Amino acid sequence: MCGITGFIGDTDALSKIVRGLYRLEYRGYDSAGVALLEGDPADLAVYKSAGRVGDLEVPTVSDATCGIGHTRWSTHGKPTDENAHPHTDCTEHFAVVHNGVIANYDELRGDLETHEFTSQTDTEVVPHLLEEEYSETSDLRAAVESVTDRLEGSYALGVIAEESDRIVCARHNSPLVVGHGEDGNYIASDVTAFLDQTRDASYLLDGDVAVVSDDDVTVYADGEPVDRPIQHIEWDAQAAEKDGYQHFMRKEIHEQPWALRQVLASHVDTVDRTVDLDIDLDDDYLRNVDEIQLVACGTSYHASLYAKYLFQTLANVRTSVEVASEYEFEGGRDPTRTLVAGVTQSGETADTLDAVRRSAANGATTLGVTNSLGSTITRVVDDSIFIRAGPEIGVAATKTFSSQIATLVLLCLHVADVRGELDSADGRRLLENLRNLPSAIQQALDNESRIQAVADRYLDEDAFFYIGRRMGNPVSLEGALKLKEISYDHAEGFPAGELKHGPLALITEETPVIALLTDGSRPDDTITNVKEVQARGAPVIGLASEGTGNGTLEERIEVPSLGRLEPLVANVYLQLFAYHLADQKGRPIDKPRNLAKSVTVR
Ligand code: AGP
Ligand code: GLU
Repeated sequence: MCGITGFIGDTDALSKIVRGLYRLEYRGYDSAGVALLEGDPADLAVYKSAGRVGDLEVPTVSDATCGIGHTRWSTHGKPTDENAHPHTDCTEHFAVVHNGVIANYDELRGDLETHEFTSQTDTEVVPHLLEEEYSETSDLRAAVESVTDRLEGSYALGVIAEESDRIVCARHNSPLVVGHGEDGNYIASDVTAFLDQTRDASYLLDGDVAVVSDDDVTVYADGEPVDRPIQHIEWDAQAAEKDGYQHFMRKEIHEQPWALRQVLASHVDTVDRTVDLDIDLDDDYLRNVDEIQLVACGTSYHASLYAKYLFQTLANVRTSVEVASEYEFEGGRDPTRTLVAGVTQSGETADTLDAVRRSAANGATTLGVTNSLGSTITRVVDDSIFIRAGPEIGVAATKTFSSQIATLVLLCLHVADVRGELDSADGRRLLENLRNLPSAIQQALDNESRIQAVADRYLDEDAFFYIGRRMGNPVSLEGALKLKEISYDHAEGFPAGELKHGPLALITEETPVIALLTDGSRPDDTITNVKEVQARGAPVIGLASEGTGNGTLEERIEVPSLGRLEPLVANVYLQLFAYHLADQKGRPIDKPRNLAKSVTVR
């Protein structure tokens, strides 16, 4: 999900575009770039580099009155200077910014054999195709229409060309809006880019091509002018980019039902309920695998721990989970029968990439499970699965945790099926629970005020313990990680049975304990541990299945019934608990101190 913007008008295109890019950075910040028509006659000038908008080196003054800009969330090709948009053709006559994915770019590149490509992006085919088409017609709109006719996938495109005093833009499955200003007109992925300049906007529809000049906007559909009404925007810029949420983290927590439905829609046939992960891994290979190793860091490591229980019980295959930075491909394994899966939402985590590369060097088959199509891991592994949760901006991972687990559940069902291990009743139940997961999570989200009230009550404590067994254990680790990341309070997760082997020494009246008492986390055994901490005066907040923990907990929140996926619903309460506690403390929730969204160093 990138941000695109553009301006054509009286003055100062550069500063208007750069201001817009800052506001669109929430859509991605792998790289930034601007293309301007400078001088008279106009020359195309492109400024672009990897990194954030603030890192972009642009002239301090510019006479340009027309230009386009981009801030990138890479899908194809690393976040490098070369892959940054705008992209140009061989003659540097056309500049293009793009949001989306050109699905047939490979095939189109094949048709452009004589063209020299300078990036690995899918986008770059567009300026090269424009170069070809424009030579036929010398009409920029006609050239854009001919090019878009050949594109498959999704795009919002902004195009400028030397000798053409207009921006031509086009949309299909990616958002694009035109701003009608006093001093000129704007294009952007969303209105936040220009809301400080104009509140009058018209939204393009799929298939539209718009020609935007300094004093006119004409929209075409199927080559004919069409009316796209101008709407007056009432809300402010910040609310717009976060859909009215104060932080991306809370927005992303609330997006989980949507993200999970995406995962299911992409991989589960609604009619015959079969799983299709769109992977090339051979069934014979999967049938003979001795061990599946999941390697990951942080939240992705916790998601992998959750999946391990399912792989072992459902697919009956030995499964290990390794912190990527500690990983060694150790002896005693037959590499040809070991599948190593790197689980990484960003696809760029250096520790995970390194572990996967080393296992590949040892001869193992490798798989990537990632939210970033085209990220580095997809080029390092033999095969990859894309989790499709949409971009996650908050540094604390939330929707990608549940989406990763849902995707790994599907992989587990596939592996179990191929190996003839799938007890059909068990598999059907798990798939049914997965299909009900979005609405169970929605129920938890609808109950947000309840967990918010709990967070308010424990605001003054500064150490928290999380306990759980089985699938409750990774969720307790994840709950503690969320709290420490964004509230800066001390928080630790433990397997519930381990407390008495040491950590119990830390338990006092001032250390709330959060206990996972759901299905899939052996609640009856954990209740014993709850009693142990209560005997030392600690208040217990329990996330419990129906009928569990009644009358024994200081705070009891009931989790909708969902079998082995109940801990995943409980996790949503833990995300909200961390969020509200941190929010009350006034922490910079989306960008916690010392952390980064993508950890590309070892
Ligand atoms: C999660 O809240 C953290 N930001 C962090 O632990 C993260 O999960 C870890 O860095 C791994 O990232 P990845 O999934 O992109 O590889
Ligand atoms: N596919 C383009 C790229 O990787 C645009 C990415 C997007 O909009 O998400 O550069």
